[in-house]
Amino acid sequence: MIRSVVKGTGSALPARAVSNDELAKTVDTSDEWIVERTGIRSRHIAGEGETTATLATEAARRALAAAGVDASEIGLIVLATATPDQTFPATATIVQDALGCNGGIAFDVAAVCSGFLYALGVADSMLRTGAARKALVIGAETFSRILDWEDRATCVLFGDGAGAIVLAAEEVAEDGPGILATRLHADGAHNALLNVDGGPSTTGTVGKVRMKGREVFRHAVVNLAEVLAEALAGAGLTPADVDWVVPHQANARILDATSRKLGLPPEKVVVTVDRHANTSAASVPLALDVAVRDGRIKPGDLVVLEAMGGGFTWGASAVRM
Ligand code: ACO
Repeated sequence: MIRSVVKGTGSALPARAVSNDELAKTVDTSDEWIVERTGIRSRHIAGEGETTATLATEAARRALAAAGVDASEIGLIVLATATPDQTFPATATIVQDALGCNGGIAFDVAAVCSGFLYALGVADSMLRTGAARKALVIGAETFSRILDWEDRATCVLFGDGAGAIVLAAEEVAEDGPGILATRLHADGAHNALLNVDGGPSTTGTVGKVRMKGREVFRHAVVNLAEVLAEALAGAGLTPADVDWVVPHQANARILDATSRKLGLPPEKVVVTVDRHANTSAASVPLALDVAVRDGRIKPGDLVVLEAMGGGFTWGASAVRM
């Protein structure tokens, strides 16, 4: 059977890391409050010259190097972001040009924090139906540029970064590697709980992030546990088969509550929220790359990826590495 197989991962972070204590110099907050409520200790914030496209390009180059794939072989780039460099064209086309693999397919996907799962689902479908042989799937964000730095309830939660994977369509055995099942959902009734209060067609401005954190938290735990179970069932697997969970890194308490609901031991959950905070669409591929590079995730491991974000949108994918 033809599956989309993960050939390599990469990530990139802005140079500047900002600790909770540093943030507390300009925002009415404290390291104690942020750590206790979220598990976040530090985040990277993009500086001058660092954009969603530059971070995405760096992450893509690292993923290509890890995969041993030349950029010229890439026929499809799907980039998930809520913070594009420009309203149009798609940031994926900027990355394509920077990598020098012009001529293939390149477009962005907007599903905010679950954007990487949506991008993965779309790229997987396109590879398996022969639209391209090799793809780059990227999650990249500069959320710091759409935060209201006067709103302590949101600005302490997010960070900037990018993660990327190289996928290749390959003939594999039933028990071989590749994306086994992906499940995606959206419920547009919850726009008001998490959104950006601007846009080209409404205010004509970019807008800032607005969130009712407590309600989002409640929905996140229920939706994430359900969709994880759904993706596993789609692959004919159970939580007991899982080697690693790579969740969207929004809040350490959401990670704990979700894994408890599924009976997954916390030592199987990859956690980077402490050093990256919530990097929206970048968070899943960033965490995946961290755990691949530090040797935790190995070839043959069963990994489940999951995320939820504005919309609401949510999704999960079961992947044999
Ligand atoms: N520093 C100090 N105090 C703060 C801060 C801060 N940064 N932010 C809020 N507070 C105060 C509030 O003003 C409030 O004070 P009050 O009781 O005097 O009114 C108090 O802390 C409690 O505020 P809540 O918002 O009720 O705190 P809660 O325990 O719900 O924690 C949090 C807030 C961390 C945002 C939590 O609700 C959460 O993590 N929700 C999930 C949201 C999320 O992660 N969204 C990301 C996108 S969606 C996703 O990725 C799943």
